[in-house]
Amino acid sequence: MPKNLYKAVLGEADIPTHWYNIVPDFPTPPAPPLHPGTGQPLVPDDLTALFPMGLIEQEASAERWIEIPEPVREIYRLWRPSPLYRAFRLEQALGTKARIYYKYEGSSPVGSHKANSSVPQAYFNKIAGRTRLTTETGAGQWGAALAFAAEVFGLECDIWQVRSSFEGKPYRSAQMAVFGAKAVGSPSELTEVGRQLRLKFPDTSGSLGMAISEAIEEAAKDPNASYSLGSVLNLVLLHQTVIGQEVLVVVVVVCQGLGLWACSGSEFIF
Ligand SMILES: Cc1ncc(COP(=O)(O)O)c(C=O)c1O
Repeated sequence: MPKNLYKAVLGEADIPTHWYNIVPDFPTPPAPPLHPGTGQPLVPDDLTALFPMGLIEQEASAERWIEIPEPVREIYRLWRPSPLYRAFRLEQALGTKARIYYKYEGSSPVGSHKANSSVPQAYFNKIAGRTRLTTETGAGQWGAALAFAAEVFGLECDIWQVRSSFEGKPYRSAQMAVFGAKAVGSPSELTEVGRQLRLKFPDTSGSLGMAISEAIEEAAKDPNASYSLGSVLNLVLLHQTVIGQEVLVVVVVVCQGLGLWACSGSEFIF
């Protein structure tokens, strides 16, 4: 990379057309997730109460490249490609000879990378006919990202926000409300598990586990609802590969411009 590059900003034509699935790169396939009740590997039917088939297929896919639907790319266009910055001042502060680059995902409408997955998750729910999404949030970033995506595709969105975060960061639930979502402090009175937790731990500040339990209970009992989550699943990792793919495009464009290398993205060693 040239010494004086402060930031690289690609054009819209460089927004990836496919997500990259790392599963085919494993020497052996990853172990399947287990059913919490039976301890047996999950099968797609176990998941249909919580997720639409389009997302279950992605979760189970062994295909290397998975096409990004055009309506999702259209929303990605609001902030993608995201800029790649060089952290000159951090390098100076550390006194390192290494060059430090970072991909700035804060340019998304919700200020984080989480919209890279919330948008496709909302889209695949929409085309499956689901009308409502539930989720948990800790810091509030995932909740805000899902609220935004639900609004884009005209879905209702209910968010259980860890109580300490709900009380300490009211601007986060306000941000979710701006996108039309409803955030509630967890544990709440709205679910069976929430009521039990409040009885057992009246002073609890909440936890992600509690909030997850509430969001899952609510999705499981409403046939029109799905549960969404912003980490853990392979499909979330899949959606986030747009970031690395854009980095590779910058590397190729810059290097070819300098006449240094003729390389394709996947062959380049950074
Ligand atoms: C499953 C799950 N849900 C929610 C969160 C919280 O996300 P946020 O802090 O963006 O609200 C995390 C954070 O890692 C998570 O792993």
